[in-house]
Amino acid sequence: MNMQADQTEMVLKKQHDHPEDILILAIESSCDETAAAVVRNGRDVLSNVISSQIELHKLYGGVVPEIASRKHVEKINQVIQQALADADVTLDDVDAVGVTYGPGLVGALLVGVAEAKAISYARNLPLVGVHHIEGHISANYIENKSLEPPFLSMVVSGGHTHLVLVEDYGKYQILGRTRDDAAGEAFDKVARAIGLGYPGGPKIDKLAKEGNPQAIAFPRAHIDGAPLDFSFSGVKSAVLNYLNGCRMKGEEVDRADVAASFQAAVVDSIVDHTIQAAKMYHIDKVALAGGVASNSALREGMRKACEVEGIEFYHPSPILCTDNAAMIGAAAYYEYKAGTRHGLDLNAIPNLKIGER
Ligand code: KG4
Ligand code: ZN
Repeated sequence: MNMQADQTEMVLKKQHDHPEDILILAIESSCDETAAAVVRNGRDVLSNVISSQIELHKLYGGVVPEIASRKHVEKINQVIQQALADADVTLDDVDAVGVTYGPGLVGALLVGVAEAKAISYARNLPLVGVHHIEGHISANYIENKSLEPPFLSMVVSGGHTHLVLVEDYGKYQILGRTRDDAAGEAFDKVARAIGLGYPGGPKIDKLAKEGNPQAIAFPRAHIDGAPLDFSFSGVKSAVLNYLNGCRMKGEEVDRADVAASFQAAVVDSIVDHTIQAAKMYHIDKVALAGGVASNSALREGMRKACEVEGIEFYHPSPILCTDNAAMIGAAAYYEYKAGTRHGLDLNAIPNLKIGER
């Protein structure tokens, strides 16, 4: 188990010495990371503790929900204590508790929600439920202090591919979404097919650097009548067919070329859709979010395309792209300021819709 207190310069040391400061203790447990953070005024991360279960789930080639819930129960108190200690604060300094209550694995979500409710009740602290994807988007506020809505956010994670217009804090409009696999899911499935193991995204990213992205022409899907929607099952099947074809012909597969060509197809489609949406809605700021936002080819492709179009491009550091609680603290702050308060009847909602309260 890897307990990782983020040591980067974005972790500032405490101080709640300005009475107007709002300190949020944030909790995230929607999938396979047990995480807690203390965030000041939505943008300053005082601590960001992540206990990752990846090593455990690797054995099974993907996240096993029951194991995830059990591990969350085992780790959550420790992770919260560590987050408070790293921030050099106690619960007396905290103004509110923010927690992811959906979407995600129900058993996993419930652990964080129950914990947040217990702290809120025991310490009489306001409780703010946060949508996981709104958290991913809000990760961009942490290192880009001047970023403010409106902007476009391309959310690409293991479970989601959403092109979101962030009209204002807490005000979201979904412009496009995947019709089948999420981008990260496609990375993970293709990685498994070429024998790279789980989680596949970072492994494909690395291997692709040694391959030729133009070696194999994998398809870029366009959906008639829904130009901003995505589909990744076609490119995934094309990779599987290609691998099968090679096997039948007895040809050796160049895995680096497959990784690079697959990645290029996914990146092209994400970049094309984002730029198209920016033009359609006259938006000049684009922010990547979610686990796949760490992908080096995606960052480079988006950066170049944005430069050509005169669009400002933002993306979080890798530690803030994958699941973490600092992003939940950022989102919770804007919800808190807008007056969102949840009661002790807050429940985990595995299929929570974006923008729902
Ligand atoms: O946001 P996240 O941590 O969890 C979800 O909310 O789903 O995203 C995890 C996903 C996994 O599918 C993982 O393979 C992918 O993000 N991922 C990447 C990279 N790093 C993580 N995909 C492509 N390239 C990467 N460098
Ligand atoms: Zn996530």
